[in-house]
Amino acid sequence: MSLIPFVLFFLSSGVEPRTGTPRMDDPQVATALAEARSAADLLTGSIRRTLFRHMGSGGPAAAVSACADSAYAISAEVERSSGVELRRVSLKVRNAANTPDSLETALLISWAAEAAAGVTPDTMGVWTLRMNGGVEVLHFMKPLFVTAPCLTCHGNPQRMAPDVRSVLRKRYPEDRAVGYKAGEIRGAVVAVVPVPR
Ligand code: HEC
Repeated sequence: MSLIPFVLFFLSSGVEPRTGTPRMDDPQVATALAEARSAADLLTGSIRRTLFRHMGSGGPAAAVSACADSAYAISAEVERSSGVELRRVSLKVRNAANTPDSLETALLISWAAEAAAGVTPDTMGVWTLRMNGGVEVLHFMKPLFVTAPCLTCHGNPQRMAPDVRSVLRKRYPEDRAVGYKAGEIRGAVVAVVPVPR
């Protein structure tokens, strides 16, 4: 797939994707960014802990359902306590509900291109300001990297435990989130916060 249309779309969208750019001196933007960052980290940390706890107790096949259901429960919980909207997205989704929008897709593609060129994408995350239903929101996106434990459910299907493979096949017949290697970008966590005015 050619990267050019996406990159052009991204560049022409008029958003400034990097941290430390215009408006960072605006205290409202700085506060929204801090909230987005901490909600994103809370979500990532809680999912990771829940996943590995379930893998320890019920094995990976049990963790598949635990992960799928608890990822949403944890998002809802963090959203309730922080007022930040949270999602996980990827270019190769397991669940179509996690499909990125066009700007998110463009950013994931540019990270993939950077990684392919041997550059580590901005692990601190990237933010943009957008209008959303007449409200200005800060949209924050942070890459999620594949580590060894992720391969149990996102690695080479041939090397997966048969019970994991069969649970995944049954629950996600359209699963594209396999075949990853450690160190690759799996996707991103997205946090969206209104900028108070
Ligand atoms: C026990 C199995 C299991 C493990 C281990 C696991 N995942 Fe997943 N992952 C899932 C399932 C199941 C889903 C689909 C959840 C849903 O329905 O939204 C998923 C979805 C995701 C998504 C959302 C995008 C998509 O494909 O739908 C991301 C991002 C993700 N996982 C990252 C990771 C990372 C990073 C790790 C390692 C830290 C990891 N996962 C480990 C089972 C697992």
